[in-house]
Amino acid sequence: MAAIHYADQRFELEPGQSVLDGLTGQGVPVPSSCRAGVCQTCLMRSTEGTPPTAAQHGLKDSLKARNYFLACVCHPTQDLRVVLPDAEEDRQTATVRGLDLLGGGIMRVALECHAPLDYRPGQFINLFQGTGQVRSYSIASVPGLDDHIHLHVRRLAGGRVSGWVHGELRPGQTVTIQGPAGDCYYPSGTPGQPLLLIGTGSGLAPLYGIVRDALAQGHCGPIRLYHGSRAPEGLYLAEELRALAQRHAHFDYIPCLSGPDAPEGYAQGRVHEVALRDNPKLDGWRIFFCGHPEMVKLGKKKAFLAGAALRNIHADEFTVGPATEPGA
Ligand SMILES: Cc1cc2nc3c(=O)[nH]c(=O)nc-3n(C[C@H](O)[C@H](O)[C@H](O)COP(=O)(O)OP(=O)(O)OC[C@H]3O[C@@H](n4cnc5c(N)ncnc54)[C@H](O)[C@@H]3O)c2cc1C
Ligand code: FES
Repeated sequence: MAAIHYADQRFELEPGQSVLDGLTGQGVPVPSSCRAGVCQTCLMRSTEGTPPTAAQHGLKDSLKARNYFLACVCHPTQDLRVVLPDAEEDRQTATVRGLDLLGGGIMRVALECHAPLDYRPGQFINLFQGTGQVRSYSIASVPGLDDHIHLHVRRLAGGRVSGWVHGELRPGQTVTIQGPAGDCYYPSGTPGQPLLLIGTGSGLAPLYGIVRDALAQGHCGPIRLYHGSRAPEGLYLAEELRALAQRHAHFDYIPCLSGPDAPEGYAQGRVHEVALRDNPKLDGWRIFFCGHPEMVKLGKKKAFLAGAALRNIHADEFTVGPATEPGA
């Protein structure tokens, strides 16, 4: 089996074990969050040995070229000598400029970055809590339309970082962020392509950014946004989205309720099922899924079966995992 060399020590990996599990299991503090190769919190660099390509999925080319990899999905077939990234790698500080409750337990966090952040609406950043926890949050703002970076953070019962955002974070406070990352954003160059956007809960955050970005860039093909929740209060920003739909004839906003009864103005059913029922033929469409991991998995499968090409399906699963603290 491959071995990992870290800080002058050799760590044997058990069959099937990732570099992250191998190191943290033997007491090495490696930060992590999703443990699914999405959030990039567990970024490491190999100084000897080539990391598997699969462990570099989603990384910027500049990071791949320097042998960075994601430890949680790295199953090396050869020995690697590894280091943690420089603390400053891809990180910067930002000042909290606004905290607004949007409804449905969602807090909009407005951040003013201390250096320009080159992002696309719909990508995500990693937010560091003072004590060292790191979590990913999608970007709902649009450069040119919004002065600050906007995140939509849903409060989870017992959630450490979302609890901190809702309970302790204050305007004027400085936070550390990392990124942006992710490929869930509006690609320029196909203004007539039909767009279907499907999200649950705070999965609206990236979709809200993508829709407004597409409209701002003059997208002229149909844009259909389906937002799902169990109860009407979970469909935050509904008034803003209805107003946006009134102003743009080619944009439709369809709020969906998964409970047994849906009042007038709402579709009834699970959001991906409603969206796929309304739009059964998806060849040529570009589709975005964001939010609950199960919805995203099922939705992607159904979209593919409905004719969407894999390259046209973008998705961010909001994986909420048992996370380890750096140093824990
Ligand atoms: C790419 C990406 C984008 C995302 N974008 C967003 C976004 O825009 N908005 C958003 O709100 N979220 C988003 N998320 C999810 C976000 O990153 C966090 O996972 C989420 O906020 C929960 O973090 P937390 O620290 O509050 O909860 P955690 O402390 O991680 O806890 C998560 C859940 O597990 C439970 N739990 C914690 N510890 C234990 C334990 N020991 N045993 C049993 N249960 C436990 C908690 O009660 C809680 O319900 C995104 C995730 C990803 C991967
Ligand atoms: S990518 Fe490895 S912990 Fe998220």
